[in-house]
Amino acid sequence: MSKITVTINGKAYLTEPDKTILQVATENKIYIPTLCFLEGIKAQGSCRICTCMVNGKMMTACTTPVNDGMEVVTNTEELEKLRSKIVELLFAEGNHFCPSCERSGNCELQALAYRYKIMVPEFDYIYPARDVDAIHPKLIIDHNRCILCKRCIRRKKEPENPTWFVFENRGNKVKINFDKEHTADMDDEMAQKAMDTCPVGAIIHKEKGYDVPIGRRKYDKNPIGSDIEGKE
Ligand code: SF4
Ligand code: FES
Repeated sequence: MSKITVTINGKAYLTEPDKTILQVATENKIYIPTLCFLEGIKAQGSCRICTCMVNGKMMTACTTPVNDGMEVVTNTEELEKLRSKIVELLFAEGNHFCPSCERSGNCELQALAYRYKIMVPEFDYIYPARDVDAIHPKLIIDHNRCILCKRCIRRKKEPENPTWFVFENRGNKVKINFDKEHTADMDDEMAQKAMDTCPVGAIIHKEKGYDVPIGRRKYDKNPIGSDIEGKE
């Protein structure tokens, strides 16, 4: 395949045209924050946290393919502020109580809040009335923590990689629910996979949430993005 040149933050990189900006940046140790993106699941570009300047316009890095001569800037003050405000909005919109959450220290939203040094959101908390669904034998869905990224729903509908969740309702009543057919025989390995698909603590594997103690988890040790930026 013929190579193309993409400039990221003023430096030229040789790459292939079938890649996204996010892929090229990550391969070259440039961290762009993500939330709705998960490797192996089709990107949808809904959370906007990966927004970069692309030829002078704001575009999502996870869904935008590179092309020859493209100029990308990943880290302006304006972009960082936008990302920080998205994180703040997500905190204000749900009920996120990090100190008591099973995903504390392994939550991408919390880790991004630390990265952006967010103490209190600028926006008023909504405190929505939402349920915790613990009816499933292996999983809990805590709707208070769901950021509606759809990572759990976009899992491919293949026997070895089934979709375990579905959307219910519409508009501001939308929420995820178990796909009863595909979760009927769920074992612990599948339940853990479901939990790991979620960027926050909305899907919890029953009796396993605290197996790794808080303080020894992924982002307790290394801030989000440090694996890509090489600062671990
Ligand atoms: S449960 Fe988790 S993965 Fe599914 S939509 Fe909510 S936040 Fe995203
Ligand atoms: S990670 Fe790109 S839009 Fe959500």
